[in-house]
Amino acid sequence: MTLDLFGDQPPEPTVEPLVEGAVVLRNFALADAELLLEAIGTVASEAPFRHMRTPGGHAMSAAMSCCGMLGWVTDSRGYRYQEHDPESGRAWPDMPEAFLKLAGSAAEAAGFEGFEPDACLINRYQPGAKMGLHQDKDEEDFSQPIVSVSLGLPIVFQFGGLKRSERPVRVPLGHGDVVVWGGPARMRYHGVLTLKAGEHPLTGPYRYNLTFRRAR
Ligand code: SIN
Ligand code: FE2
Repeated sequence: MTLDLFGDQPPEPTVEPLVEGAVVLRNFALADAELLLEAIGTVASEAPFRHMRTPGGHAMSAAMSCCGMLGWVTDSRGYRYQEHDPESGRAWPDMPEAFLKLAGSAAEAAGFEGFEPDACLINRYQPGAKMGLHQDKDEEDFSQPIVSVSLGLPIVFQFGGLKRSERPVRVPLGHGDVVVWGGPARMRYHGVLTLKAGEHPLTGPYRYNLTFRRAR
């Protein structure tokens, strides 16, 4: 690696192993960030961000939208994937080409070949928003990894064990970082701590997270 004396080169992507089956790909999405954010805007123009309710009736603090064949939804009937946006009754927007390419190449960089997501959940965090520890377990296909892309304001990611009681490690995530977990790590608990207020040159007061899954 060469020393960047003038600060005009984007940082090189690097791979940080977390546990078996999980890695942080630092800066992996940096070069595509503007394209990805533009695509988020297009998706949100068709399927606007909304605060869905948990089965228990609480509004999620992160606002969500989805694209791809399937979208993840939660309401009084529970958590599930469905082909239609409950707000509009229409199919979810197509998965943008830039999303598919990035998800596939990130999975491959983490050692998972041939990842073809059919669902992308887009979380938008405003200051004060968080995501409690949970497993991604509404998918039918656990053989495929989860690819999680961070854009905008930084946050602290928590990556735990296969049991909720296991103490999670804290991983700071910034703009352009990607986390991939699969194989023996696929069912690990994870979440993010509360987003702190800030201003990002590309996303203003927000952090976006794209989570790619193979749901069916
Ligand atoms: C999630 O697990 O659905 C979101 C994680 C994140 O925002 O980084
Ligand atoms: Fe998750």
